Amino acid sequence: MEDFLDDLIAWLRIPSISALPEHANDVHAAAVFTAGLFRKAGLENVGLIEGEGHPLVVGDWLHAPGKPTILCYGHYDVQPAEPLHLWNTPPFEPTVLGDNLYARGAADDKGLAIILIKAVERLRQQGPLPVNLRFLFEGEEESGGDHVSNYLRTHPEALACDAALICDTEMFAPELPTLCVGLRGILYAELEVQTGETDLHSGVYGGAVPNAIEAAARIVSSLKDLHGRILIPGFYDDVAAPTAEELASWARLPFDAGAFQREEARVHALTGEPGFGVLERSWARPTFEIHGIRGGFTGPGAKTVIPCEATVKFSCRLAPGQDPVRVGELLNAAIEAAALPGVRTQLKILHSAKASVVDPANPYVRKAALAMTEVFGRETVLTRSGGSIPIVGLFAETLGVPSVLTGFGLPDDNLHAPNEKVYLPNIERGIEAIVRYWQSLGEAL
Ligand code: BES
Ligand code: MN
Ligand code: MN
Repeated sequence: MEDFLDDLIAWLRIPSISALPEHANDVHAAAVFTAGLFRKAGLENVGLIEGEGHPLVVGDWLHAPGKPTILCYGHYDVQPAEPLHLWNTPPFEPTVLGDNLYARGAADDKGLAIILIKAVERLRQQGPLPVNLRFLFEGEEESGGDHVSNYLRTHPEALACDAALICDTEMFAPELPTLCVGLRGILYAELEVQTGETDLHSGVYGGAVPNAIEAAARIVSSLKDLHGRILIPGFYDDVAAPTAEELASWARLPFDAGAFQREEARVHALTGEPGFGVLERSWARPTFEIHGIRGGFTGPGAKTVIPCEATVKFSCRLAPGQDPVRVGELLNAAIEAAALPGVRTQLKILHSAKASVVDPANPYVRKAALAMTEVFGRETVLTRSGGSIPIVGLFAETLGVPSVLTGFGLPDDNLHAPNEKVYLPNIERGIEAIVRYWQSLGEAL
């Protein structure tokens, strides 16, 4: 285990939070560290590609003529660690407790991305690689940055490959090898609501003037009904439903909605559209979720004020078939229609990405499933995930290749939340599975 643990701990110590400008130097340091890991593994042509935003880190090994070329993707940036008081150990002081390693980025994505790097290192120690590899790691995945998409659109030839390989998803259950064959897209937006020039005394003016927070709340609550159905006209028009076969395969997964509610999500009740199962609701249906509302007075004590402005951050997860640009237009129209007289709104789209689905019959997917089955000793299941990895759609669009999404994380890894962790034995098994996978790709497809 030592051959990856020290490197992983050093990588996790760098607070590479891409969303926070004050961490730009840390993000850069993490890029430099990533390049060091690539070199140590035996990759060639390692370097940083600087541009707007955070650097891309690239490297390759292309000495297997006639063999497939695999593009390995990961992200070295992490989510902010807040709320800090809920962490049992400091987020950037990686801590091993039993078989788990706790730190921000432990599972998303440094602790899983290192599987790809260490698989190269192991094979290179034995000699040449069975396949050609290109590596592309980015530092803006968590903040919806444009650097990698601009690079892909302008330099597709530099990343020419037969398939992409990503370790940034989770297993459906412990000990159950999992390949993810579908991800939702996302449209992230900020709504500004303004009702006047200045905040006002709620006694002197209350009853005669509009309230910006109330206006914002009315607008966003008009976009979804009590059952979770989204009320934006036209929103569901292009949603592609999963096939009957896929739904049947989900029904065979070991899933207990009660345990999911109480032990995994730990919520007081499950919600969502009637007529759809929990897995379908969270993997394949589009959503509308509010992330935060800013405005007015929230300090200690009481202040009698009518706020004149409010901001709502929200996002829609998108199903296959939905076009983020069209959904943005529909959303804009619905918001304008919902704003009462005297309420000015402005909608800003912060970032967006399409959903993606991967054909499970693709040989690159099938061989990955076989390699995982061999290492874990159980049949690999195919799942989707409700999360988004924008690069998957871009690889399909710009390079014309499928992405193989091997999940080695666990459902209780606390991604984006306090006490994020990675189950260390899965890193070891992940390295073994990736090594086997590349070896099998080196034999005929
Ligand atoms: N690795 C996650 C996505 C994920 C999580 C996939 C769990 C499958 C299972 C990724 O880093 C992520 O968080 N993506 C963001 C994308 C967004 C910021 C564009 C997301 O889904 O919120
Ligand atoms: Mn990730
Ligand atoms: Mn993430």
